[in-house]
Amino acid sequence: MKPINVGLLGIGTVGGGTFTVLQRNAEEIARRAGRSIRITVVADKDTARAKELTHDTCRITDDAFSVVSDPEVDIVIELIGGYGVAKELVLKAIANGKHVVTANKALLATHGNEIFAAAQAKGVMIGFEAAVAGGIPIIKAVREGLSANRIEWIAGIINGTTNFILSEMRDKGLSFDAVLKEAQRLGYAEADPTFDIEGVDAAHKITILSALAFGVPMQFDKAYIEGITKLAATDIKYAEQLGYRIKLLGITKRTTAGIELRVHPTLIPAKRLIANVEGAMNAVVVQGDAVGATLYYGKGAGAEPTASAVIADLVDVTRMHTADPEHRVPHLAFQPDRLADLPILPIEEVQTSFYLRLRVQDEPGVLADIMRVLADEKISIDAVIQKEPGEGEDEADLILLTHRVREKHINAAIAKLEKLTIVVGMVTRIRMEELGK
Ligand code: HSE
Repeated sequence: MKPINVGLLGIGTVGGGTFTVLQRNAEEIARRAGRSIRITVVADKDTARAKELTHDTCRITDDAFSVVSDPEVDIVIELIGGYGVAKELVLKAIANGKHVVTANKALLATHGNEIFAAAQAKGVMIGFEAAVAGGIPIIKAVREGLSANRIEWIAGIINGTTNFILSEMRDKGLSFDAVLKEAQRLGYAEADPTFDIEGVDAAHKITILSALAFGVPMQFDKAYIEGITKLAATDIKYAEQLGYRIKLLGITKRTTAGIELRVHPTLIPAKRLIANVEGAMNAVVVQGDAVGATLYYGKGAGAEPTASAVIADLVDVTRMHTADPEHRVPHLAFQPDRLADLPILPIEEVQTSFYLRLRVQDEPGVLADIMRVLADEKISIDAVIQKEPGEGEDEADLILLTHRVREKHINAAIAKLEKLTIVVGMVTRIRMEELGK
């Protein structure tokens, strides 16, 4: 059978990896796909570098629009990123009847509904395994492997940069700023790491997983996003003493009131497998009603791990492109006319337990005053640790772990606590998740 022709938009790290792996494993991949998969054209601004990487095996252009209109191209791989020109190119490729494979989580989380509707109308496939957790086949697992289940929640370490930073902060007791500088020096963090450290990248990814898990449209604009920039090494240390680790988690959960969709630093029990995922690695736990908890672990970024996901999508498209569109796996796991309109809960309505750290005057009655404020807001306490004041100090750290409480109640309690004269400065609060059943 004649090869399927692929046009590659962007030959940076992932594009280069895709090219290399497709060449190296061409024979195995063709045995799986049923025919050869051949990159026939590459579009990149840096045509010289593109030529060097592809060793004259395909055509090189700096005009990406010519690729999405090329009648010879069956599948377009979009690895440009962002939602400017990438969106135009993807929509143009779809309009021209081409299947699209993309690693672009920002594009799908913010414009996925429009893109999937266009693809559906045109009868083409959009593969996006590489958009979430790099090489981990989490899209395939949630969309197909777990399709018997009513999915209850998903929690994931889905940003390697921040997991690397948190691991280093814990290991070395360093501040966020110090570790970020080191991560940038080593090339782990981007020169502009804003999307990573502010939780935006993880929010793009959990938005996609939420849509797949619950059969709802992408709703990135309703996600609650809090990054790790304000996290203090002190809290990582205290959490450790209490048997917890702090991870930046993307969480999506089904509740009777609606869907939770949030990214924030989270205390999780150190005994959970996911708490022990260190460095730049990614991991995702999916809780289904039939299967229970399943855990997926691997590299969430990098040339060949991400290429692994891109090529898996190429194989899927190659196998399925002649099938009747109605017989293909729906983009968001559920049939497009059966998506639910469950509301995404505002963060004030979300219930979690909390870690609170207060700096308090070291005098009798302090604990009683604090407990009274919490009791007035109907907040129960699970554990209290009072640290001894340092040598010559008359203030001490007080750590409280609460039972589950609606966020608006903890906010009200914290506002009252901060007004007490015995409480010095602001109260630090970090959400906790047991990640049990
Ligand atoms: N910047 C991402 C991370 C990788 O640090 O995990 C690509 O999604």
